[in-house]
Parts: sequence; C-alpha cells; structure tokens
Amino acid sequence: MTEKLFAVCSPGLEPFAAQELHGLGLICGSSFARSGSRGIEFEGSLHDIYRANLHLRTADRILIRLGEFYANTFVELRRKASRLPWENALAPGRPIVFRVACEKSRLYHAGAVAQRLAEAIADRLGKAPRVQKFDEDMGAGPPQLIVVRLADDLCAIGIDSSGALLHRRGYRLATAKAPLKETLACAMVKAAGWDERSTLLDPFCGSGTIAIEAALLAKRIPPGHARRFAFMDWPHFDSESWEKLLADSHREISAGCPKIMASDRDAGAIRAAAANAERAGVADCIEFSCRTVSAIEPPPSPGWVVTNPPYGVRLKKRDDLRNLYAQFGKVLRAKCPGWHAAVLCSSIQLIGSAGLKFDTELSAMNGGLNVRLSSCRV
Ligand SMILES: C[S@@+](CC[C@H](N)C(=O)[O-])C[C@H]1O[C@@H](n2cnc3c(N)ncnc32)[C@H](O)[C@@H]1O
Repeated sequence: MTEKLFAVCSPGLEPFAAQELHGLGLICGSSFARSGSRGIEFEGSLHDIYRANLHLRTADRILIRLGEFYANTFVELRRKASRLPWENALAPGRPIVFRVACEKSRLYHAGAVAQRLAEAIADRLGKAPRVQKFDEDMGAGPPQLIVVRLADDLCAIGIDSSGALLHRRGYRLATAKAPLKETLACAMVKAAGWDERSTLLDPFCGSGTIAIEAALLAKRIPPGHARRFAFMDWPHFDSESWEKLLADSHREISAGCPKIMASDRDAGAIRAAAANAERAGVADCIEFSCRTVSAIEPPPSPGWVVTNPPYGVRLKKRDDLRNLYAQFGKVLRAKCPGWHAAVLCSSIQLIGSAGLKFDTELSAMNGGLNVRLSSCRV
C-alpha cells in the first residue's frame, strides 16, 4: 500500500534531504525542494518508511499521513478522526503524545483538539489512550508522537515513524562545547562539495561531528543502523523485512575510507571525539590530534577543510574571535593553498576577518542562531 509521507527537516536542509530522497528513488527530482518549507512530501510503502529512516542523513523525522479532513466543530473533528486507521500505528497500551498547531481555523485551541482526538482514538480502539505531554527532545524512548496541523479548518494528522529525532544516530554520547547537530554537520559536508576521496580536515573539531559524518558518508554506513525507531513498535512491524534491509545495507559498506583529519586545542574534546568515532565504527578512518589551528599539518595535495570554529558570544569574546578568524585565514593561505574551505559561522564580520573571498553555500539554524556555510577555494 502506498502511503503519503513527509520528511521533516530543519530550515535550510530541505534541498539536501530532497537529494537523498531522490537517491533512494523516493522522489523524482530534488530541484523543487524549497528552503524554509520544513520538509519534503513523498509517497511510499511501509518498506520505504524503513528505508527512509535508515538512510536519510539530513532529515529530522519521517511522518506518515494518517488522514486529512475538514472540521469546523469538535463533534465533526471527533467523528471524522474516529474513522482513521489508528490501529495501524498504536500498539495497545503504548502512550501517545500530541503536537498540535492551529492556524486560521474555527478550532483554535490546541489542547481541546488533542483531547477530542484522544476521544476519537478511544472510539475507534475501544480503549482510552494514555496521553503524555509533548517535549521536543524526547530522548531515546519517546511515546508515539502524533503531529496535527489545523489550517483553514483542514485537519492533517501525521504519525511519526522515527521516534527520537533522526540526528540521534546513537554514537554521540560524549560532547564538547557547542556540538553541531549531526544532520547539519552532514549537510555541511555535502554543501562543501567534498568528493569523498580527497582529504577532509576539521581543525576545530570539538566532539568530532563533521569528521564522523564525513566518514559515515564515505563508507556508506547507514546513519540509522544502530538505533531504534517508532515504527518498530507498530502492530504490523515486519521485523524480517527490516533485518533484511539492514543486512543488505551492511553489505554496501565500503572497507576503505579517505584520509580524514580532525584536531582541536582542547584535549577533552579530542577524547570525546575519539570515543564518538569508536562508537560510530569509523575510528580507523579519522586521525585525531590535540593542537591549535596554527599547528595543523595538512598533506600537500589539496583537499577540503570543513569546519565550525567558535562564533557565539557564549564561547569567546568578540575581539578574541576576530583574531582567531584572522589567524585561521592566515593558516589556510599558508598551509592549504588550492584547498576548498567551508566554514560555518553566524557572523559575516567574523568570516570577513579571515580575509578570504567566500560564497554562501547553505543558510541554516544552529543552537537558535542563524548560521551560514561560507565556502571558497583558498
Ligand atoms: C563550535 S566548537 C566545534 C563543535 C564541533 N563542530 C562539534 O560538533 O562538536 C569550536 C571548537 O573550536 C575549538 N577551538 C577554539 N579555539 C581554537 C584554536 N585556536 N585552535 C583549535 N581549536 C580551537 C574549541 O575547543 C571548540 O571545541
């Protein structure tokens, strides 16, 4: 059976998720993905839901459209919602959580909408569900999330198939200061245009996210292979088909890996990064070292520097940061001539201090700040 699906993305990452869905054969083209649309619509079978969750590196979660109908009154909402096949996604006794958004609709009270939907589920299943409160970051074992959007009286109900957000690959248990979301780190590597063969270097690696995502990408290790998903608790979960999918994807993993170098001046960050890489199964691909950016030793043949130096006021004072970026620019010109450089930063002034001529490749959000990935040929 073909389902209507939606890959939810962080703003700015839509084109990358669309490209990935295209690669999986789940959409025909990727050029229509609008930045800021917060996701990509596509269609697929239950098996495709498993594939999307296992393979997508830049999406946050995969929703399945359970139903869509007009409702002006609570009576209508409950009646129409009770006709939906809730039993396909709700295992008996599994707690649920609603995330409801109402816009330009007669029914505007999110809490009351959730309450009527819980009643509709009880009508359909013969038992009242256990409803919990919504918390964006529900950790590793969240209850079944139901996403509801009422816009112009049209009620769209989505069932989350992912569970914990997809950036939670399961490897990053140790963190350093200001870690990047894995989805954004992967999008940076893709946006930088890394060829997956040349050297990739991150001289401000913190907990190692960029280097680890690059290694996972180059080795074709599926990002979701070591975690659980919400669909595994659905009543019709086909564990045999999932196990086969997993085994097939493991056969695709390549033994070799290009040279990936990651360094940071903070010894604690390097310890955390090395432990994360070990858990991710890519420790043998990444050379970690504790050193300042001035002491990096890149190989002579050009590669890619993809990095996320400090930029927030919470990390360092502005003047120090300007000096750091000026120093970074100097190091790039002296040690990485001909290399591609891609730098994530929230401030045009800071990036300007590096003294290189950058283009913007990607605009996104990180830790509540607008950030951009600026790239250039050194
Ligand atoms: C924004 S964090 C990087 C976070 C990283 N992308 C992650 O996902 O964990 C910036 C890092 O730059 C490091 N750093 C600051 N000044 C440095 C310098 N002069 N040389 C090398 N590393 C430096 C900090 O220790 C910090 O780990």
